[in-house]
Amino acid sequence: MLDFITQKKHDENRQGEAFAPEQAGAQQFSKRFYIESYGCQMNFADSEVVASILQEGGFGATRNYEEADLIFINTCSIREKAEQTVRKRLHDLRKVKVNKPGALIGVLGCMAERLKAKFLEEEKLVDLVVGPDAYRTLPSLITEAEGGQKAVNVLLSREETYADIAPVRLNSDGVSAFVSIMRGCNNMCSFCVVPFTRGRERSRDARSIIQECEALFNEGYKEVTLLGQNVDSYYWVDEKNDTTVNFANLLEQVALIDPLLRVRFSTSHPKDITDEVLYTMAKYENICRYIHLPVQSGSTRVLQLMNRTYTREWYMATVDRIMAIMPDCGISSDIIAGFCSETEEEHQETLSLMEYSKYDLSYMFFYSERPGTLAARRYKDDIPEEVKKRRLDEIVKLQNRLSHESNLRDLGKTFKVLIEGDSKKSENDWKGRTSQNKMMVFPKADHKVNKGDYVMVKVTGCTKATLLGEIV
Ligand code: SAH
Ligand code: SF4
Ligand code: F3S
Repeated sequence: MLDFITQKKHDENRQGEAFAPEQAGAQQFSKRFYIESYGCQMNFADSEVVASILQEGGFGATRNYEEADLIFINTCSIREKAEQTVRKRLHDLRKVKVNKPGALIGVLGCMAERLKAKFLEEEKLVDLVVGPDAYRTLPSLITEAEGGQKAVNVLLSREETYADIAPVRLNSDGVSAFVSIMRGCNNMCSFCVVPFTRGRERSRDARSIIQECEALFNEGYKEVTLLGQNVDSYYWVDEKNDTTVNFANLLEQVALIDPLLRVRFSTSHPKDITDEVLYTMAKYENICRYIHLPVQSGSTRVLQLMNRTYTREWYMATVDRIMAIMPDCGISSDIIAGFCSETEEEHQETLSLMEYSKYDLSYMFFYSERPGTLAARRYKDDIPEEVKKRRLDEIVKLQNRLSHESNLRDLGKTFKVLIEGDSKKSENDWKGRTSQNKMMVFPKADHKVNKGDYVMVKVTGCTKATLLGEIV
C-alpha cells in the first residue's frame, strides 16, 4: 500500500524529519530545543519560523531529542494515518521524561489546532499545545509550562503571516529554500481539514517576500519555492504605494532578483491558475517549467461532491493551455481514490484523465474521512477499504508507467541542471534537478563544478524515478 511516496520536494506527507542547524556557539544557550516535522512543506517552513522565535527567546537547537529541554513535534492532520504516526511518535518521545523529568513536550501545527485542549485531557502526553498562528507566543507559553501549568494557544488569526520573522534554515542543503507567501485556505474542498486547521487565507507582504528571496540569493541559495495552499489566489494590497500584487506580479518580481535564482511554486488550484501566470512563467527562463496541479478525481460528479469547482473538461482544457504556452512544462498531481460514492466508472475516469495529462509524478492517497469536514457531515464514507486500496493500487501502477514513459521521452535531450549535492548512492555522482523538477544523477568525472552550480546534462538513461546523464 502506498499512502505517500517519499520524495524530498512536493511530498505532502513527509515523515518526521528532525532537524537543527549545526550551531556555532550553541553552548551559550542554557536550554535546548528539538523539533521534528510532519506533513506538507508549509509545516516544514513553519518549523523554521518556530526555530527563529525560539532562538530569539534564548533557546539553542539540538539534533538529539534526548538532550533537549523542549521537544516539539510539528504535526499534520490531513489523513488519519498522519495523525496515528504522530501519536505513536509522541509515545516514544515521552520516554525521555523518565531520565529527564523536567523536559517539556509540545505539539505544534495542524493536529494541535484540530484537537486543541483535548490533547492535554485525553492523551496526557504533552505539556504544550500550540496552533499554527500562535507561534509568537511560544516563549511565554514555555514559561507557563515550566511553572507546571498546561499551556495552550490555538487561536487562529486573520492577519498573521510571520512576515517579519527571518526563518532559521534547518537541515538545508544551502541550495534550495522554501518561502511562505500566504497562509490558510478559503476553498473548502469537502474532504479537506486544512481550512479548519490553518484558518482563513491571507497573503504575506510582497516586499517581505522579495527581501527574503534576495537575502537567500545573497547567502548563496539558487532556488526558492514559493509556498501556499493555493498560490494562484495570492493578492497583496500595497497601501503605501497604492498598488496591488497578484501571483503573476510576485513571480515576476522574484524572477527579476537574478537570472541565476530559480523560482518554483506550490500548490496551484486548477480553478485559479491564470494565463497571466503561464505567460509570466514562459517569459522568464528561471521560473521553472513545472506545475503541481492536483486534480483529485477525473470524474465531474465526484469533483462536484469534492467542491473543487471545476469539471473534468475544464481541467483538461487547463492542461492543454499549459502545454500550448509551455510545451516543455512538467505537470504533477494529487489524486484521491475511493471518495464517497465513487463508482467503478468514475474511478476509470480518473485513470483516463491521468493518461490524458501524462503526469510526470503524482501523490496518491485513498480517501480518509476527517471529522468536521463537509464530506464527513454530508456524505457516507461508503467505499470499502479493500476497494479503496485496489483503486489506489491501480492509480499507483498507472502513475509508475506514466513516470517511466515521461522519463523515456527525455532520453537524448539535454537539460540545465542545478546541482544539489552528492547523489544518495555515490560520492562520485552529483544529483540535481531539471527545470521540470526531475531528479538527474550524473558522474562528477573531471568536471570542475560544485554544489549550487548549473550544468548542462544530456540524458543517457533512466529509471522509473530518476534521469541518468552526463555533463556535456
Ligand atoms: N492545497 C492543496 C492540497 C493540500 S493537501 C490543493 O488544493 O491541491 C494535499 C493533498 O492531500 C490533497 O491534494 C489531497 O489529494 C490529499 N488529501 C487531502 N485531504 C484528504 C483526505 N481526507 N483523504 C485523502 N487524501 C486527502
Ligand atoms: Fe484543502 Fe482544497 Fe484548500 Fe487544498 S484548496 S488546502 S485541498 S481546502
Ligand atoms: Fe498537513 Fe496541515 Fe499541511 S494538515 S498537509 S500539515 S496544512
